[in-house]
Amino acid sequence: MANVVDIGILVSGSGTNLQSIIDRIEDGRLDARIRVVISNNPKAYALERIKKYGIPGVIVDHRDFESRESFDLKMIDVLRDCQVELVVMAGFMRLLTPVFLKAFPMRIMNIHPALLPSFQGTHAQRRAFEYGVKFSGCTVHFADEGVDTGPVIIQAIVPVLDDDTEETLADRILREEHRIYPQAIQYYAEGRIELVGRKIKIKGIEGVAGGPLHNPPVMGF
Ligand code: GRF
Repeated sequence: MANVVDIGILVSGSGTNLQSIIDRIEDGRLDARIRVVISNNPKAYALERIKKYGIPGVIVDHRDFESRESFDLKMIDVLRDCQVELVVMAGFMRLLTPVFLKAFPMRIMNIHPALLPSFQGTHAQRRAFEYGVKFSGCTVHFADEGVDTGPVIIQAIVPVLDDDTEETLADRILREEHRIYPQAIQYYAEGRIELVGRKIKIKGIEGVAGGPLHNPPVMGF
């Protein structure tokens, strides 16, 4: 049995990952309650998305603050006021300071559109495409002081096809983001996430979906 986990979602842009979390809560598959959505960007389309669900949205514009710490302190205030347990960064384009990380230890998730630790940082899909990798994917991880360096919770792999463009690859990755982020939050709600050293174990869940993958295919070896 899962507890319903109170989450706060940090966004900067279109909010498709936010939408996937809302949809899974609405259809009863995700045991979470969105207490607040915080955007550092007043024009983020994510803020439009939440209106019809009555989810509170708060703009905390980083440009109104003198330091990264004071910006983070404001977000901490909002999240605590809203009794948020788990912070979910969904397309949030600001780096968190240690002040924020200490306020929510091992309770801040992020999603990255690459198979970490490959292609950390911005424009991950473009850099994977230009590098010529045969597989890419996405990763949900806990945030730490580094850029996309925290413990990995779940990853999805997608193939890179010969006729892909940067956009078709990014779309294929995004579709998997929309599956693994709700799953990671649900694992949290079910109390399954355990940190062992820097590795995450998902208690009671064994094995992987799918076997070894090859791209291009291995023919008879
Ligand atoms: C996603 O690829 C996410 O991984 C990245 O920002 C992109 C936009 O996400 N961090 P969204 O549509 O705003 O959820």
